Amino acid sequence: MEQYAINGGNPLVGEVEIGGAKNAALPILAASLMTDETVLIENMPDVRDTNILLNAMAGIGTHVERIDRHSVKINGSLINDLVVEGDSVKKIRASYYFLGALLGKYKKATVVLPGGCDIGCRAIDQHIKGFKALGASVQIAYGMITAQADRLVGSHIYLDVVSVGATINIMMAAVLAEGRTTIENAAKEPHVVDLANFLNSMGANIKGAGTDVIRIRGVERLHKTEYAIIPDQIEAGTFMFAAAATRGDITVKNVIPKHLESISAKLIEIGCEVREADDAVRVVASRPLHHTHVKTLPYPGFPTDMQPQIAVTLGLSQGTSIVTESIFENRFRYVDELIRMGASIKVEGNTAIIDGVNRYTGASINAPDLRAGAALVIAALSAEGMSTVDDIRYIERGYEDFHIKLQKLGAQIDKVESERELQKFKLKIS
Ligand code: UD1
Repeated sequence: MEQYAINGGNPLVGEVEIGGAKNAALPILAASLMTDETVLIENMPDVRDTNILLNAMAGIGTHVERIDRHSVKINGSLINDLVVEGDSVKKIRASYYFLGALLGKYKKATVVLPGGCDIGCRAIDQHIKGFKALGASVQIAYGMITAQADRLVGSHIYLDVVSVGATINIMMAAVLAEGRTTIENAAKEPHVVDLANFLNSMGANIKGAGTDVIRIRGVERLHKTEYAIIPDQIEAGTFMFAAAATRGDITVKNVIPKHLESISAKLIEIGCEVREADDAVRVVASRPLHHTHVKTLPYPGFPTDMQPQIAVTLGLSQGTSIVTESIFENRFRYVDELIRMGASIKVEGNTAIIDGVNRYTGASINAPDLRAGAALVIAALSAEGMSTVDDIRYIERGYEDFHIKLQKLGAQIDKVESERELQKFKLKIS
């Protein structure tokens, strides 16, 4: 029964070191098997999703050597199986990155279709459209998706929706296709750019990543590289909103402030002070916070992965705020839990109308998914009294040492595994 036990009400104060970006690490790890030479990846976050992906890579014959907690050497020269399956792989969306990586290198891949629908239905039609445009045939049968081609040939692909996953998957397949590929209406997220930089460091020829037109000139093969993953925009943003909600003062270190602009802008709008340095951002919340409106959008808009964290903070800000979720249709499942903590929120379709309250109070709550789970931890840290947060396996998918980093900022939070440990926590805080 792993859960977080939290005693809230203390402002979080201090410095926190941000790790490598999970959403960049996943495609970069998958893409590193596209060369037969050895690739060294650094600044890799040690979280559940990256570990599942690495196990899946080892499962098809990739040589995976952990150098230390955040560095790994990968060699894909002895891959002997083009079928990626298994229960744990099925649980992570990013398993579909094996399609682009293996299709690009071996012209064939079969991957178990991701299950679960935690934040909304997540179609893959744009990935399939892209693979087909490159000359692959795609079949779905018995819960598996297979893409294969005699040869991949560059093409002009217009994405009907801005999709991070489809942009990444098509980019991976296209780097080893013959000729030129253009992806229009491409996603511009920092992790798309990071993957392009990584592939280019292996000898790929990708231009325009970070804009909505990406041009790829196919190359015959990719070679070895050493590469450090960018800092995690969402982990940083989560701690920035933790500072706001707990009325604290947190410096997030090892970040790229440019990637945090939409997050910083909203914090300033609601009354926080945000100070940027070269690779750090400090958020001070010493004044009363007030309402704002926010709509999630593809980068450089406000990230959908930060929507629960801002909503938790607006729930404690004076006035009425409106949060509109425009990317995923099922991303307000945490609201019922927040209402149990005293929030005043009404959800209508893809909009949450939030009337700020003076305080939350502790409760026993469940993490419904990764980011909402982290947001509920922030709610518990800002609440009066004790809370427990269950289903923390979701949070551990994407946050490394979350409770330890929070403890260092002065939070009273423990990960407890039994009733006895929970009682010990209660004694400690009484
Ligand atoms: C990635 C991130 C996730 C983030 C999301 C949006 C990873 C591992 N996950 O997810 O944390 O919340 O970007 O920034 O990086 N869509 C289609 N057809 C497709 C693909 C997507 O209709 O073929 C739709 C989706 O249903 C969704 C929207 O496009 O409404 C955006 O999805 P997408 O950008 O693909 O998200 P993911 O790559 O799955």
